[in-house]
Amino acid sequence: MARLAVLASGNGSNFQALAEKLGSGEGRRHQCALLIYDRRAAFAADRAARLGIPARYVSYYKRDALEAEAEIASALSESGIDLVALAGFMRILSPAIVDSRRGRIANIHPSLLPKWPGARAIERAFEAGEREFGATVHLVDEGMDTGPILASSSFRSEPHCALSDIEARVHEIEHDIYPRAVVDLLDAIEDERGAR
Ligand code: GRF
Repeated sequence: MARLAVLASGNGSNFQALAEKLGSGEGRRHQCALLIYDRRAAFAADRAARLGIPARYVSYYKRDALEAEAEIASALSESGIDLVALAGFMRILSPAIVDSRRGRIANIHPSLLPKWPGARAIERAFEAGEREFGATVHLVDEGMDTGPILASSSFRSEPHCALSDIEARVHEIEHDIYPRAVVDLLDAIEDERGAR
């Protein structure tokens, strides 16, 4: 069994999709062991309570980001976390934590990377007249939404499509591809452990 932690700042729908995948079928081989959130009002924390998953708030408020991150790093080690999944976590992790968990931090981004990295990706693509939308799962490196791509899926929008419809469809894609990619990563961690 490999252990997953999710880092989220807001709604947490991807966190829930990951937790539910690990709570059912083939995903049961692994455990969603911890949610870390950095905004007190994050709905992700309510979801964790409902799902019975331990949650820990780490404040960045009026605090050196590296200090907050050190708290995150300790929480991950204390919980024996093998893999970290960023799910709407609105912070850039420092090179130190990325390096210490290289290949063991994944992210979901609501665009077809390398197009539209950064915040408000769907909205910016929509405003620019983009017709192809999608989501990408990638490993985290020191850049913003730049690490090696693990999975992606896309669709073409109709000319009359509203932004809200496109957003809903992108989120549906995220909730499908992210849990599958994360289970594959957790399986690979298990296999590697078994081979040692
Ligand atoms: C998702 O669109 C994800 O791709 C992006 O932030 C959003 C988080 O949504 N990184 P949720 O909090 O998982 O509902």
